[in-house]
Amino acid sequence: MTRVFSGVKPTGHLTLGNYLGAMRQWAAEDQRRSDALFCVVDLHALTVDHDPARVRRLSRQAASLLLAAGLDPELCTVFVQSHVDEHARLSYVLECVATDGEMRRMIQYREKAARERERGGSVRLSLLTYPVLMAADILAYGTDDVPVGIDQTQHVELARDLAVRFNQRYGHTFVVPRATNPAVAARVMNLQEPASKMGKSDDVGPGIVYLLDEPDVVRKKVMRAVTDSGREVVYDRQARPGLANLLEILAACTGGEPAELAGGYDSYGALKKDTAEAVVEVLRPVQERHKELCADPGYVEGVLQEGAGKARAMARPTVDAAYRAIGLLPPVNAAR
Ligand code: TYM
Repeated sequence: MTRVFSGVKPTGHLTLGNYLGAMRQWAAEDQRRSDALFCVVDLHALTVDHDPARVRRLSRQAASLLLAAGLDPELCTVFVQSHVDEHARLSYVLECVATDGEMRRMIQYREKAARERERGGSVRLSLLTYPVLMAADILAYGTDDVPVGIDQTQHVELARDLAVRFNQRYGHTFVVPRATNPAVAARVMNLQEPASKMGKSDDVGPGIVYLLDEPDVVRKKVMRAVTDSGREVVYDRQARPGLANLLEILAACTGGEPAELAGGYDSYGALKKDTAEAVVEVLRPVQERHKELCADPGYVEGVLQEGAGKARAMARPTVDAAYRAIGLLPPVNAAR
């Protein structure tokens, strides 16, 4: 059976981008067709300036939202990264296979480091090595498919490169994974800045729809979305990025095709109105289920505890094999 692994980083409140680009497919397809693990990757949240209490809060919330979005612990494994030591254990070994140049070429590192320096802040070393930890997340589980939004594709390619390199040098140890992306909304853009991704860590509130935004807040944000000059409603990502973003969101929420949907509108206002309502309807069941889960925190904790146990058992043999293959002496009494 295909093994699937993916994760969300608790650096901010989860957004419509996270949902349409990733979580929705995890719930609707991946957990059903494969042996899947979904992880709140909290170690990754420490790579930028952070408030410990907020990371804890966001980690709990992200776990509840994964369940609220439809992940079913009977079908898949849901857990928190820091509860399973194998991620950090494997990350170090992979750092010994990755190169400094490779890390510095990562687009997200370059963008985030530049932003941090502009603010006069320092760049954490872990921000540079972040993609190696992400590769460890993936490779520890013998993952075949990594369902992600487009922004994570380069990181998954790095995981592939490291797996191939490790296997060639030290003997076959890792499955070589591949990224899979949704057909539409693989890159949902900020409603106020259609040239930038709708990112949860960016804190540009008005252009970001959060999964827990009230319906009226969602409506307001969508109705105020920046559109392009021109009147005709056409789907053109290059020339009309703001409009294309709305059409893709509408398509993702209603199951249509962006170009076909464009033909049904002769004004931006009507498109915005329908998009806003479609988003409200898509978020409604997630918000309702989230509310129920908040009233039962013991349930979520139980799921995470059980998930960590299952994940540990799955990761351990592969990480042990990597340790042996790269030349580390097995502990006394360990099976050879
Ligand atoms: P993160 O937390 O930024 O995002 C979680 C998932 O949501 C997708 N996504 C989007 N998709 C479409 N449009 C958007 N605007 C948008 N914003 C986010 C992301 O592509 C991702 O699939 N490094 C990862 C977390 C991670 C991971 C992993 C993922 C760590 N280890 C191993 C897969 C496998 C991240 O920061 O995702």
